[in-house]
Amino acid sequence: ISKIIIAIDGYSSCGKSTMAKTLAKAIGYIYIDSGAMYRAVALYCIKNQLIRENPIDLEKLKQLLPSICIGFKSNATGESETYLNGINVERDIRSLDVAQAASLVSAIPFVREAMVKLQQHMGQSKGIVMDGRDIGTVVFPHAELKIFVTASPEIRAKRRFAEMAAVNHNITFEEVLANVIERDNRDTQRKASPLRKADDALVLDNSYLSIDEQFQWLLNAYQNTI
Ligand code: C5P
Repeated sequence: ISKIIIAIDGYSSCGKSTMAKTLAKAIGYIYIDSGAMYRAVALYCIKNQLIRENPIDLEKLKQLLPSICIGFKSNATGESETYLNGINVERDIRSLDVAQAASLVSAIPFVREAMVKLQQHMGQSKGIVMDGRDIGTVVFPHAELKIFVTASPEIRAKRRFAEMAAVNHNITFEEVLANVIERDNRDTQRKASPLRKADDALVLDNSYLSIDEQFQWLLNAYQNTI
């Protein structure tokens, strides 16, 4: 069977990446986390003081962006990890601060343009599952299978809180919920490639589905496509 491109888009913390990773593993595809790329740019901005509160030093970022190298490598257990200029940043990019900064950085058109190019390059030989916000609409408008994932903000915040509270004991549910809602607004309201469902995407509301039920649904969608 020939390989296809699977695009999985949706709101933040809706479990897209878990679904995408599990499917990729099961069918022998490469998984690409496009959000990690925006997070890596955000981390770079924070580390190099290009970002102070809201204003970003756009001139400097534009100048430095071509020299930033973002990529993925599998670790010993076969999981893909994010690298920024040769350094493993997989853990560093998962903080709330970086998530917040990523949602700012990802609204900048020249940043999107560069990331989209990189993502299209990664999908050249197909056989990939990529998750994000604009994969089915902008990055791969001709993807053979497009999924749009949704779940209520409260449910997504609950899931994210459980994940984060395990490593950061100071975090509150209210903070996480506020972050989820703020990012939803920014992702859907921004001018550059706002989050929206592609016309030909299948919708999955996973509010009340177990991880396994989601996987079965996705596998079924894949089998119906090939
Ligand atoms: O999916 P994740 O939460 O890791 O993404 C981090 C940020 O990057 C999101 O807040 C979103 O604004 C942005 N993003 C994007 N386009 C993508 C993937 C992520 O704008 N394809």
